[in-house]
This record gives sequence, structure tokens and C-alpha cells, in this order.
Amino acid sequence: MTKTTAVTNQKGGVGKTATTKEVGGALAEDGRSVLLVDLDPEGHLTGATKLKKSTGDANLCRALIGTWEGSMADLITPHSRTEKGGRLDVVVSSIEMLDVVRELDKVRNRDHRLKRLLSAVDGIYDHVLIDCPPSLDILTDNALAAADGALIPVQAEDSSIDALKLLLPQVAAVDADLRDKPLQLHGLVVNLLRRPVTKIAESVLDVFKTYEDLPILGTIPLSVTVSEAWRFGRTVVDYAPDSELSKTYRELAKVLEDSE
Ligand SMILES: Nc1ncnc2c1ncn2[C@@H]1O[C@H](COP(=O)(O)OP(=O)(O)O)[C@@H](O)[C@H]1O
Ligand SMILES: [Mg+2]
Repeated sequence: MTKTTAVTNQKGGVGKTATTKEVGGALAEDGRSVLLVDLDPEGHLTGATKLKKSTGDANLCRALIGTWEGSMADLITPHSRTEKGGRLDVVVSSIEMLDVVRELDKVRNRDHRLKRLLSAVDGIYDHVLIDCPPSLDILTDNALAAADGALIPVQAEDSSIDALKLLLPQVAAVDADLRDKPLQLHGLVVNLLRRPVTKIAESVLDVFKTYEDLPILGTIPLSVTVSEAWRFGRTVVDYAPDSELSKTYRELAKVLEDSE
């Protein structure tokens, strides 16, 4: 069975795209077949994997709004294969994604479009990871409706506490309105942590620890390795396999592997 995970937080710049790519990379390294979905209209995941945006009729925007009904395979670009037989594929972005929110508003069953699309690869991939946009919009609702669970990247900053106060009610609303069973919130990924850790960052981490059902699953420091891997379109576990970072990304991958 395919496990689908939304990597979500309506706050921008907290590491959703990096987390999607790197946890996906760690799963693939471990022999899993992994599909990443670039749901942010800005297309950062497509850039971070050095793949091209799609320019033809077969693109994620048209597939979501239903003006293109071809095979899901035509939306998928291979990124890499791993020694253990894993693979990393990407549903890349397209320029038309910039219009998708407006277009989705006009269609029927608009919250379940992504879920329907992904049902075509159910059982084909071990994991699908959805890189969400930095907004609580119809796209994020689609991701929250399509996923089994969620990873929430945050930063050790007050703004991330505020962001959780908006995100968690939204998840509850989607649970109530759009889902048969609640989304499994795996927990938080603290990203871009500066070392040494400041008092203010520590105080934010203390607040995160009070969220009992939302464990801190891992802490990723601000690291040039992440930026370098991004620039070269490689995953951190491939680019710097022996780094502490890779160890953390493998632990995060294990959280998804072990999830129900
Ligand atoms: N741990 C990290 N260390 C250094 N740079 C990072 C790290 N995580 C993300 N970045 C960089 O910070 C920027 C924002 O991260 P990104 O994953 O795009 O956030 P989001 O998807 O939430 O907007 C990107 O340029 C990314 O390359
Ligand atoms: Mg992003």
C-alpha cells in the first residue's frame, strides 16, 4: 500500500521543499519507490531536483482541473535510482500551476482532485510525498484530503508558533469536512536551526514540546550542504551520505516507514 504524506505549513521558507526532497531521497536510498509531488505553484521542488517544468498539455494543473485526462505516467519525471533498487520520481510543476487555484475554484469536487489523481499510482509507489504551497488554500486542502499523514516543518521562531495556531485548526476542519478518518500528524521537523542555539530559539522549542500529539521528529541545522545539494539537484543522502544531516533525514524516513 502506498503511504501518502503531505509536507505542509502555510508559512513560507520553513523547509517544506527541502524536507520533501531529502526525506524522499532517504526513502529511495533505502530501496523504496518514491513519488514527490510539486504542488506549490512556484515550482521550487522542480527546481531543487533540477528537472524541467512541463510545457505540454500533460501537466499537473490541467490534470487537477480536469482539462487533461491522460495517463498519470505522463506527469511523472524520473529523478534518480539508488543502489538498493529505490527510485525517486517527481510530478513536476508547470507555468500553468500559477492559475490552478483560480481554476480549481470553478470545478466540482474541487477538494478531492489530487486524491483522485493519485489513486492512479496507489500501490505502485511505496511513498508519495506532497510538497505543499505556503498558503492555506484549495491546494493545501487537496493535499490534506489526499494524504494519510503529514510532516510539519517549522523554524525555532515565534512566527512558527503562530503558524501552527492557524494550521492545526485547518487540519481539524479538513478532517471534519473532507476526510473519512483523521489525518495522522506525524510531527514537527525543526529546520534551519542556527548553532549555537539562542535563548529565544530554545524558548520556542520549549513551546513546541508542549504540543503533546506533535513530537519533534528531527532537527535540521542551517547547513550549506542542504543548499549545495539543492543547487546540484541532488539529495543530501546522495551528496553527503556520511553527514549528520543524512542521518537525521534517514531517521525521518524511518518515521514514515514505520507509520501505520
Ligand atoms: N537546513 C537548511 N540549511 C540551509 N538552507 C536551507 C535548509 N533548509 C532549507 N534551506 C533553504 O532555505 C530556503 C527555504 O527552504 P524551502 O525548503 O524552500 O522552504 P519552503 O518550501 O517551506 O518555502 C531554500 O532556499 C532552501 O534551499
Ligand atoms: Mg517550498
